[in-house]
Amino acid sequence: MKKFRVAAIALTALIAIAVAGIASHFTPSFAQTYPSKPITMIVPFAAGGPTDALARVLADRMRQTLGETILVENVTGAGGTIGVTRAVKSAPDGYTLSIGHLGTHVINGAMYTLPFDLINDLDPVALVASNPMMIVSKNDVPAKNLKELIAWIKANDGKVTAGTAGVGSGAHFSGIFFEQLIGTHLQFVPYRGTGPALLDLVAGQIDIIVDQASNSLPQVQAGKIRAYAITDQKRLAAAPDVPTVAEAGLPELQIELWSGVWVPKGTPKDVVARLNSAIVEALADPAVKKRFAEVGLDVPPVAQQNPEALARHQQAEVKKWWPMIKAANVKGN
Ligand code: MLT
Repeated sequence: MKKFRVAAIALTALIAIAVAGIASHFTPSFAQTYPSKPITMIVPFAAGGPTDALARVLADRMRQTLGETILVENVTGAGGTIGVTRAVKSAPDGYTLSIGHLGTHVINGAMYTLPFDLINDLDPVALVASNPMMIVSKNDVPAKNLKELIAWIKANDGKVTAGTAGVGSGAHFSGIFFEQLIGTHLQFVPYRGTGPALLDLVAGQIDIIVDQASNSLPQVQAGKIRAYAITDQKRLAAAPDVPTVAEAGLPELQIELWSGVWVPKGTPKDVVARLNSAIVEALADPAVKKRFAEVGLDVPPVAQQNPEALARHQQAEVKKWWPMIKAANVKGN
């Protein structure tokens, strides 16, 4: 009798396993039904700035691959930490993306006490673009090159206003690096993004910005503001007349402002893979590459467009920048 009962239990278990196996073959995996509704891409800065512009170009092209709208939502404040926190706290289901950069996903970890772990509470999706910073001023600053600008800033120690996107933003930590190298103090003026900061620079309300080249370049080309140098080893094809910092006499000011896309920790791997493939397709699109090139944005090589490459790069940048930022003892909160 006992033997019969054991055999019956074993047979029942085998049938259950077989049914589960057949069912899983026909039950669509999460990724097979993803996405089934609009996706939100959180931009941690104001509309009209470089991160916002990058997000909208990517979102528009990713929609073609994914077949669902990607809504760009600007969640601003505190150098981008408000927006990134919102993304970190979102459901790990692939419907919330976090776009950001060296400032929001590296520097802020050294400047703020964050309510999350910058490296471990987000999963990487892809590196998307990078550009150097560009030192720009309002037109009526009495300097015609970087050496004269530095002399003018020193002669007005503590009075020259420098627009930023908040403590820890790209424009802010680049400004700190700049003032440390030239041995003087700037008066940082925080905005909710360097889009609004640039409007005030054009209007002459602030004096300078150490800005993402992609943000300032159109205004430089229109003659509305003046460019002094870019923080790169070579000139931008889109701005052949703007010298490198080395040519302009400040070779140490080397900054590459790279941007990436992340999702909340625990987002299903096959969903991350779908998002990554949509980004890779966008970055390969000639129309996207042309728009990026026009404003000095470089697309990473395909071999660097996978999630692991973003994770490696972010960790390397933490090692590179955190000691300098902590030594500067600049705190966001
Ligand atoms: C920055 O300075 O961090 C960014 O340029 C801000 C922005 O994208 O608006």
